[in-house]
Amino acid sequence: MTRHPDSAGLTFRQDYFGDPAGWAALVCLLNDIFGIDIGPLQQLGGPDPTSMPFGWFDAEGELAANISAFALPFVLNGRIVHAAGLQSGAVRPPWRSRGLYRDVTVKALDWCDQQGFEAVILYTDKPSLYEPYGFRAIPLHRYEGAAPASSASAAPPRALLPTNADDLALLQSLLKARSPVSTSLAVTVNAAMFLINTQLDPDVRISFLADRQAVIAWKIDEAGRFSLLDVVAAEIPSLAAILAGLEITPAFVEVLFRPDRLGWEGVPKSLESGTRLMLRGLGDATPDFPAMLSPMAEF
Ligand SMILES: CC(C)(COP(=O)(O)OP(=O)(O)OC[C@H]1O[C@@H](n2cnc3c(N)ncnc32)[C@H](O)[C@@H]1OP(=O)(O)O)[C@@H](O)C(=O)NCCC(=O)NCCS
Repeated sequence: MTRHPDSAGLTFRQDYFGDPAGWAALVCLLNDIFGIDIGPLQQLGGPDPTSMPFGWFDAEGELAANISAFALPFVLNGRIVHAAGLQSGAVRPPWRSRGLYRDVTVKALDWCDQQGFEAVILYTDKPSLYEPYGFRAIPLHRYEGAAPASSASAAPPRALLPTNADDLALLQSLLKARSPVSTSLAVTVNAAMFLINTQLDPDVRISFLADRQAVIAWKIDEAGRFSLLDVVAAEIPSLAAILAGLEITPAFVEVLFRPDRLGWEGVPKSLESGTRLMLRGLGDATPDFPAMLSPMAEF
């Protein structure tokens, strides 16, 4: 039996991103609930064009409850899964416990089923919220180990600023033509999330290696520990070529996806994080090898 939400005083709207006031209401909701500002996305090519938001608005045009679906094809164990992602799920405190989240979740999942998506994925710190809908948590692993011997590089790296128009155009063309960073688990496109994630973590560096036509998303801490977050390229360079291109020689390396295309083998380590990746569909499929989605794909 369908349980109806208590939505007195609210109006339901779907697919409202074309309305600037609707988009602004979502930016405000995510700022208020998560402290995350997705406003800059408008200057970075806009939200993912496949986005399908489901929201309950109050009389003042404020968003009381929301969840958004979007196409998120990803590679799992060597094949492309035509999946949707769910993101931006939140209800303002005064509107909680009325069934509004259940309502938008059911609407979003029905829409995903109607569109023919074979799977749905999401990130959450509340897995039990989604288990009743058939989602299950996927174990995630990063890799670590000693750096490979560095090779020679032809050109110095160039830091890219996604807010600069020329750099954005270069990034967008590389994102469009990118090859999955791993054959175990990786997104195939997902340009909007990569671009907004460059703005959400100030420690992430975005470097362009011209001779490899590759963009590297990386971090280095005070102890000289190098973290490789993502590689955007049609042809994935080896880790040795990446380090040479970045002109760094760290002693220790961490890779935040399965490094099967990097010509380097690290040791998989279970990811200690409160956030879980959950999958609905595909039977009981999980990555055949320890893996994780790049943090630049996180949504
Ligand atoms: C989590 C949240 C979306 C729930 O909103 P809500 O409007 O109170 O949810 P509903 O009233 O629609 O309840 C839906 C179901 O989720 C359950 N639920 C609510 N909060 C939950 C929580 N924190 N953990 C697990 N289950 C929860 C309810 O018991 C209810 O179960 P039922 O369908 O069996 O009755 C809201 O508290 C919120 O916005 N929190 C902060 C942001 C957040 O955590 N977003 C989701 C994470 S990705």
